[in-house]
Amino acid sequence: MAAGRQFTAGGAISIRNVTKVYDPDGVNVLAVDKCSFEIASGEFCVVVGPSGCGKTTLLNAIAGFHEISAGEIHLDGELLCRAGLTTEPGADRMVVFQNGALFPWYTVLENVTYGPEVQGRMRNEAMHAAMNLLSEFGLADIAGHYPGELSSGMRRRVEIARALINDPRVLLLDEPFRAMDALTKGVVHEFLLQAYDRVKKTVFFITHDLEEALFLGSKVVIMTTRPAKVKTIIEVDFPRPRSFRMRSSQRYLELKEMVFDAVHEEAAKAFAAGERELA
Ligand SMILES: Nc1ncnc2c1ncn2[C@@H]1O[C@H](COP(=O)(O)OP(=O)(O)OP(=O)(O)O)[C@@H](O)[C@H]1O
Ligand SMILES: [Mg+2]
Repeated sequence: MAAGRQFTAGGAISIRNVTKVYDPDGVNVLAVDKCSFEIASGEFCVVVGPSGCGKTTLLNAIAGFHEISAGEIHLDGELLCRAGLTTEPGADRMVVFQNGALFPWYTVLENVTYGPEVQGRMRNEAMHAAMNLLSEFGLADIAGHYPGELSSGMRRRVEIARALINDPRVLLLDEPFRAMDALTKGVVHEFLLQAYDRVKKTVFFITHDLEEALFLGSKVVIMTTRPAKVKTIIEVDFPRPRSFRMRSSQRYLELKEMVFDAVHEEAAKAFAAGERELA
């Protein structure tokens, strides 16, 4: 990617004793329990954990989609949320969803200009910025296409570009490549890594795919079975830019074993708990 516009460095996230109880007066689901960890400015943090453990709950709290019950989340030292206080979703925290969220009736270019226009930028200026970004990310050729005309991998790339044009402090991705075939995933991984190397934003990335976690992340936060708290954090000390070849190194295999062991232990607990609930 050629050097183009300048991006602002990512924001540091501090998650302190965060607890989230859904519907406390009704079904009362404790989803996250005194969860704490730090994400440095510009760090690529991947969160993994058993299904239903509370990962999306945490992401939604950072994004400002819902309130937490206790604890605090800070962004660059400023209080983002605590019980009774939620910072509304904004361009400083862009979310890329599991099922995608491009407007099907807009072209790629119109989708990418949507955010800047909503923020009040002039249409011409937004178009210019969007075209520059699409060129920089190798997407200029599809600027006039509609999302329905694109492959799933291409749509994901556009969604990432659409999030980044807002120059957020944090990029929040909730299993963005779920249900993609392995080859497409590989290409989209490379795209995301190149974009990350270019913009150096803080990334909060949720996945069930442990290979994906290791390939992309600077650290992998492994959550316990519900209610979510941190089980362990594994630092992925591979240099960047990364190449898929790192997957065959001895260090990668060691890290993979550590992550697999930790996740397997929690998945087994979740499975056993499920069986008890059914019994
Ligand atoms: N609105 C809600 N009301 C009640 N319970 C909820 C609500 N949303 C989520 N939950 C419950 O909270 C728990 C955590 O959900 P969450 O979606 O955060 O898990 P997750 O780790 O993202 O799971 P997955 O890996 O399947 O995406 C689950 O048991 C879920 O059923
Ligand atoms: Mg989820």
